[in-house]
Amino acid sequence: MGKFKINGGKRLYGEVEVHGAKNSILPILAATILNEGISVIHNVPRLKDVEAMIEILEHIGCKVSFKGKDIVVDAKDVKDSEIPDHLMRTMRSSIFLLGALIARNKRAFISFPGGCDIGHRPIDLHLKGLKRLGVKIDESYGYIKCEGKKIKGSEIHLDLPSVGATENLMMASVLAEGITIIRNAAKEPEIEDLQNFLNAMGAKIKGAGTNTIVIEGVKKLNDVEYSIIPDRIVAGTYLCAAAMTRGEITVVRALKDHLEPLISKLKEMGCILKTGNDYVKINCDKRPKAVDMIVTQPYPGFPTDLQPQIVSALSIAEGTSIVTETIFDNRFKYTEELVRMGADIKVEGRVAVVKGVEKLMGAKVVAKDLRGGAALIIAGLGAEGTTVVEGAEHIDRGYENIEKALRGLGADIVRIM
Ligand code: EPZ
Repeated sequence: MGKFKINGGKRLYGEVEVHGAKNSILPILAATILNEGISVIHNVPRLKDVEAMIEILEHIGCKVSFKGKDIVVDAKDVKDSEIPDHLMRTMRSSIFLLGALIARNKRAFISFPGGCDIGHRPIDLHLKGLKRLGVKIDESYGYIKCEGKKIKGSEIHLDLPSVGATENLMMASVLAEGITIIRNAAKEPEIEDLQNFLNAMGAKIKGAGTNTIVIEGVKKLNDVEYSIIPDRIVAGTYLCAAAMTRGEITVVRALKDHLEPLISKLKEMGCILKTGNDYVKINCDKRPKAVDMIVTQPYPGFPTDLQPQIVSALSIAEGTSIVTETIFDNRFKYTEELVRMGADIKVEGRVAVVKGVEKLMGAKVVAKDLRGGAALIIAGLGAEGTTVVEGAEHIDRGYENIEKALRGLGADIVRIM
């Protein structure tokens, strides 16, 4: 419900602040049930996915208050271990509760999380890892029933560096008996954020950010107060919007170390970038150049979550770029909408050939997923004429008030029903 109406062609300029990371707060909210006490979290963004996670925490017995950018979770009375189907379907990230519920209640009962528009999103690595920790798992009738009287530390080797599986297994093993080693772990900054949050609770975890994470089980965890990192994907989205509109903007509270892969590609495109500890300034005063190749990879490679946004900016670049999506099996759907705006993009399986055109033309387009939707907004900002992007609800999952942030940079964008 809800659409964005954009009158394109306005050069973005000025400063924008980045909100807290969606992919940090979701696993960290799940982790709040581990201390059977109080967790205070700062710098929390107002996103649909955060509201969905709060609804699930309240459903299982937590008391949650969300004022300004601060969330307080009281997890003393977590009694239920079942996450109802409709809540699982609202947001597949509820899968993060699996590990935390097992650690807390020694059982969990959830429905199979749905796939989504970017791929079928299996959870086999989560379940294989939990079995290594001694969890009995029964998968039938679309439900997953997990029981683990005693969670014992173990060595787990992930076939793929899955972000969610790494985070679920960290949470499942913080109260286990003995030591757990997760090998081939994902290395995303949000995993380090989760480790720092859990250690602030009294857990004993080291190695997040590397491919080997060691968790020494402890008996109990304590109350905690913590502030999450800024959202690198939101920061990168703004930088791509600047490239699309030949703008000059400063993204504040963006940790440059988390944006290196994108920064190097934007420089290849001819943009001028200046970085400080917590800001990235970008100036693109001419038509961007194409890049030979972009291949999405697990961190620290080019992030799949910024693939749609940079493809949007490349659609008006001088030359042809080849973009390969190695993480998800269906993450180029949004390109059909860009073609409606005049882009010249051919997709063959996991490869998109992006032949830059002079200009996109405004059109009515439909967002079907979060980052694809962000790519359509970027396209509308640079297009000639008016673009209406339907499916605002997808974009609201990961961007807090995106129209206000972009208007602050000089964009002509409004939300319409
Ligand atoms: C997290 O999803 C992020 N979501 C995604 O961000 C992000 O795209 C993804 O990591 C990769 O970086 C959150 O953190 C809430 P994965 P996740 O497990 O954990 C396969 C966004 O836009 N796989 O690392 O689901 C899977 O099919 C979202 O903010 C298995 O095969 O990603 C995929 O191909 C989109 N079996 C690949 O691994 C498993 O058990 C990466 O998935 C698990 C994953």
